[in-house]
Amino acid sequence: MAFNVQEIRKDFPILQREVNGKPLVYLDNAATSQKPQVVIDSIVDYYSNYNANIHRGVHSLSQEATDAYEGARKKIQQHFNIKQTHEVILTAGTTHGINLVANGFTEFLKKGDEIIVSALEHHSNIVPWQMLCERTGAELKVIPIDEKGVLILSEYEKLLSENTKLVFVNHISNALGTINPIAEIIKMAHKVGAAVLVDGAQSCSHIKPDLQALDVDFYVTSAHKMCGPTGVGMLYGKEEWLNKLPPYQGGGEMIAEVTFKKTTYAGLPHKFEAGTPNISGGIAFGAAIDYLNSIGFDEIEAHEHKLLQYATEQLTAIEDLKIYGTGVDKTSVISFNIEGIHPYDIGTIVDKLGIAVRTGHHCAQPIMEFYKIPGTVRASFAFYNTKEEVDALVAAVKKAKTMLT
Ligand code: ALA
Repeated sequence: MAFNVQEIRKDFPILQREVNGKPLVYLDNAATSQKPQVVIDSIVDYYSNYNANIHRGVHSLSQEATDAYEGARKKIQQHFNIKQTHEVILTAGTTHGINLVANGFTEFLKKGDEIIVSALEHHSNIVPWQMLCERTGAELKVIPIDEKGVLILSEYEKLLSENTKLVFVNHISNALGTINPIAEIIKMAHKVGAAVLVDGAQSCSHIKPDLQALDVDFYVTSAHKMCGPTGVGMLYGKEEWLNKLPPYQGGGEMIAEVTFKKTTYAGLPHKFEAGTPNISGGIAFGAAIDYLNSIGFDEIEAHEHKLLQYATEQLTAIEDLKIYGTGVDKTSVISFNIEGIHPYDIGTIVDKLGIAVRTGHHCAQPIMEFYKIPGTVRASFAFYNTKEEVDALVAAVKKAKTMLT
């Protein structure tokens, strides 16, 4: 089916509403995406028709719920081209997946070992590794960025050594939109025997990563950035790594046998899935993946690229407006400031005109420190945004500028 943005918008009930008496222009997709009716329906259907706990009962409802939940795991596996279904761990989201891995590495690291992160990371891909370093005595090293917000690979190469045990980098920067050359980063890390975790929270709504081709050791993402619900996500890990890592949490479902003398653990993926999971969330994650694939990632990328180009041209034409993150490989995120105006003030005025953008440090304070700014205004576009919405943003920013200067 040809890509038709007006038809696609009809799938999203929230896009029909008004905010402050104006049609909603939702440009905060990097914070969370909106949900199409099919995803909302999948949650209502579960609670209305087959709500039951999974993996636990022989009764029919439990079986139906288990089939739907495990069916979603299979969809995730196929979507990301993961070799084996049990390499997909369903988590509460990206942050949960990162902490699970960071916790697991505690027993493998010691003083003298090194961990590399990038200067483009979200706090959730910095703080867990700092905590890991505190527990183990390992040292954290940082790949720097240049003025365009692009990682300096020659500096990364210098940081790599036989002491490097782990490398953590996001696929796409949430604050700037830079797409990192993860295939190269992974290859370089593997040459020195380091494992790599890629934070895919910002990438999976824009592109479809092939995890076997990337040969990545761990990849994490959240459903809610991909038109799915909050509170559910995926941790992919290579089987050999997941077998080596200890369980993160103890509880029901993650055991093989429990006695007061000794407990043995379940196999993958259940070893990492203690307690009743977010069942409706997992099922809806599967529905969101089906929905995105029905639109098609080539079409999504092409449309978003056009929006990015157009919005960049239009915003750049505003005097005293500076865009942060100007690398060639970029997704549809524009972070900007207008000289002499606080980002929060711009965000507040454009909201009055019905336009939702994020303002602040975007949970990436080191990037703001690099540019010596308190934060930015961030407009992040999805495939359901339109050129007219870019025009509305540009007009609102111009109006805010006039009012504030
Ligand atoms: N990490 C999300 C963002 O970038 C919340 O806005």
